[in-house]
Amino acid sequence: MRTLRVTVRPAGPISGTVRVPGDKSIAHRWLLLALTAGGRSELAGLPPSLDVRSTARAMTQLSGETQVELQGWIHMKHVGTSAQVEGSLEWNVGPTISIGGAGRTALHQPGAEVDCGNSGTSLRLLSGVVAPCPFRSTLTGDSSLRSRPMERVAQPLREMGARVETTSGSPPVTIEGGTLTGIDYDLPVPSAQVKGAILLAATAAEGPTTVREAAPTRDHTEVALGHLGARIERRDGSVILWPFQHEGFRGRVPGDPSSAAFLAAAAALTGGRVLVTDVCLNPTRTAFMDVLRLMGSRAEERATGAEVGEPVGVLETWGTGGLHGVRIEPARTPALIDEVPILAVAAAHAEGESRFEGAGELRVKESDRLAGVAEGIRELGGEAEIQGDALVVAGGGLRGGTTDARRDHRLAMAFAVGALAARSPCTLTGAEWAEVSFPGFVQALRTLGADVEGAA
Ligand code: S3P
Repeated sequence: MRTLRVTVRPAGPISGTVRVPGDKSIAHRWLLLALTAGGRSELAGLPPSLDVRSTARAMTQLSGETQVELQGWIHMKHVGTSAQVEGSLEWNVGPTISIGGAGRTALHQPGAEVDCGNSGTSLRLLSGVVAPCPFRSTLTGDSSLRSRPMERVAQPLREMGARVETTSGSPPVTIEGGTLTGIDYDLPVPSAQVKGAILLAATAAEGPTTVREAAPTRDHTEVALGHLGARIERRDGSVILWPFQHEGFRGRVPGDPSSAAFLAAAAALTGGRVLVTDVCLNPTRTAFMDVLRLMGSRAEERATGAEVGEPVGVLETWGTGGLHGVRIEPARTPALIDEVPILAVAAAHAEGESRFEGAGELRVKESDRLAGVAEGIRELGGEAEIQGDALVVAGGGLRGGTTDARRDHRLAMAFAVGALAARSPCTLTGAEWAEVSFPGFVQALRTLGADVEGAA
């Protein structure tokens, strides 16, 4: 990635109608389900984000056929925007990809280490895909990914019967797959990636598997498997899945609500009005809209359809002039985990203090987001501190200043949006990291009226 330093000058209201790139969490799962399907799948709307390309690249190492089908897409030079019409931005959703699955048994041992780049979701979900396969795979990634905890996924897969070795708890992770047996498992930390890995492995295990979570996390694996016809039972906090071989399927990946959250916050902070269309409205992903409402902005979701069991529609947010502080209790945090950085930066502009409790998991994301978001807020002239597992943000506004994305896509976007409402210009280095989940982010902000200087 080329480095990108941008200067954001306070501007007027951020307003307009946009689409955002396809949902990253859904794209990883649908790609992997297409890989293991017993038949051809057609996927549209795959986001060109670097993380999703990591999953696609890994797939080419496990199946000769996908190599032919995905190679072009992986290397395609995606443009950030395709059209800007009267202030609205149409996202270039790219071509429909056709993937011929021949079932799990057609996968083969990768010829080299599988590089998952910056993507924890790729590495953890792939662990579940290869656990039932009778071969050896080594999964690794960039320096950030190689420092992230993997025992949380290794442990349940071992209990199911796979041989899994981590490197002091982190990648490289080596998996010798084989015959698996269903387990009954309580997730020690709420994690959709770990739940997803267990469920993907469970489709090929003997007997049913139960996964329990203490706090709800995103449920895209369960939704897709249920839609494809798996026998799956979902009760308060638990999922039971029976072994299942699915057929090929068709779907258009809806827009990513976690990307939409940055634009919604931009509207809330600047007194603007942003409408994001064709976005995933799965309720395990839209809790940030509740928080924006609690903080005093107006925020509405309207469903317009569904794709592979996922509700799709529009998100509309209006700033109503001034936000107020909020207290988020630990039980709510897992459903907001990717949105805490942007909500915390929004809280820096609110009146009164905000507390984001039970946010310790942010320490083991692409960067230590707990420390990073607090430091960034301070570097931009606000006040924030960490108290145990809580992030405490004093309101009152950001003065302006210089900060860095800390090689983390969500911090890059959170600081850029926070800068829109600062009292004086803010400079952000490492803005290129937005490409990990939201290619075209800077262009999207500009289209909506932001004054962002710096090439992108
Ligand atoms: C994701 C789950 C979350 C989230 C990540 C995507 C997923 O991670 O932070 O961005 O697609 O399952 P954890 O499972 O580690 O909480």
